[in-house]
Amino acid sequence: MPLSVRPTVAGDADAVSDLLRVCYTTLMEPGYPPGALDRVLPLMVRANPALLTSGRYYVVEATDGTVVGCGGWSLERPDALRDPVDPSLGHIRHFATHPAWVRRGVGAALIERCVVDARAAGVRRFECYASLVAGEFYQSQGFRLLGPLDVRIADGMVIPSLLMIRDRL
Ligand SMILES: CC(C)(COP(=O)(O)OP(=O)(O)OC[C@H]1O[C@@H](n2cnc3c(N)ncnc32)[C@H](O)[C@@H]1OP(=O)(O)O)[C@@H](O)C(=O)NCCC(=O)NCCS
Repeated sequence: MPLSVRPTVAGDADAVSDLLRVCYTTLMEPGYPPGALDRVLPLMVRANPALLTSGRYYVVEATDGTVVGCGGWSLERPDALRDPVDPSLGHIRHFATHPAWVRRGVGAALIERCVVDARAAGVRRFECYASLVAGEFYQSQGFRLLGPLDVRIADGMVIPSLLMIRDRL
């Protein structure tokens, strides 16, 4: 089925939050030890208002307009938003595919759009804090694993993740 990718606007917040919730609870939670995500998941399934209006965050829509995927990139690090940015390094942000739509190219379409727009903005490499269930997806998109990483979500809350890099866009 044809898919379209477009940048999000503030009004997409509810659709994106709904998608993050169903995706992360269905696809991500089973990849972690029982209870490991109980405290962090409620924070992670909220659409990020700054990302939504950045022009660098996208939704994938099916032909009937249903939002089936979301994801994007930023120059800011997800866990250190106030750190100085490296304008040649982009950070992959908040990717999710609806569980009913996995393995149909939604995630790949998002990466492709991120690459095109980031390259045009002068970015040369992508870094990604991948969930424990997403390593193979990112590997298929040209990323390589640097190692495990505990990503800080809020004070005293971390999520075990994978640090991945794509050296060339
Ligand atoms: C990771 C995720 C976004 C991938 O989305 P997707 O739309 O299913 O990805 P695609 O259909 O574009 O997959 C492209 C390729 O990635 C690889 N891939 C994707 N999911 C995979 C899986 N579960 N296991 C192994 N390889 C996988 C395959 O090579 C696939 O190609 P193929 O289907 O032709 O074999 C989706 O599984 C997801 O939302 N996971 C839960 C949330 C999450 O972890 N998000 C990432 C946060 S960092």
